[in-house]
Amino acid sequence: MATAHVGLLLVVVSAALSDDVRLKQAAAEPVRLFTEEELRRHDGTEEGRPIYMAVKGVVFDVTRGQEFYGKDAPYNALVGKDSTRAVAKMSLDPEDLTSDTSGLTEEQLKSLDSIFEGTYKKKYPIVGYTASRILNEDGSPKDDFRAEQQPQLQTKDEF
Ligand code: HEM
Repeated sequence: MATAHVGLLLVVVSAALSDDVRLKQAAAEPVRLFTEEELRRHDGTEEGRPIYMAVKGVVFDVTRGQEFYGKDAPYNALVGKDSTRAVAKMSLDPEDLTSDTSGLTEEQLKSLDSIFEGTYKKKYPIVGYTASRILNEDGSPKDDFRAEQQPQLQTKDEF
């Protein structure tokens, strides 16, 4: 069932891509969707497993930032999940370790975008998206998902 939904999504996404981008992507890996559970497996606790962290629903491979995110490292709490709110607020409070952006101030949202662009997109490869960023509970694509706004379409080497 879930696989069928992901398949449908890929059809929707690829239909929205230009031929040029599609050709580039064809040679690369397909977009991967992460459930919360899958993302949790990459929380830095397992030796040798890549460390993943999502910001704004985009999943980054932050393994090269081991000294920040690895087991017992200062920002380990941020990984294996979508930590958008924590990044926006510069907070490690457990209640901020979520993708929920409701009630954030203009300034926090600006700061989030600047860290998203200036740190995560610059420094770490994108490995996929959180399923909840793209799909509704029933597996249908979210209305606000726009393939052309996704980071992998702005940079050429991420996929
Ligand atoms: C007293 C408080 C803090 C100090 C002194 C501090 C200091 C630093 C330093 C020195 C870096 C490394 C910059 C670099 O080498 O590129 C860094 C990066 C970072 N800090 Fe903090 N920090 C503090 C609190 C926090 C908190 C509360 C958060 C919560 C989200 C946070 C999130 C980050 C992130 C996401 C990075 C980027 C890591 C990366 O490049 O992947 N910091 N911080």
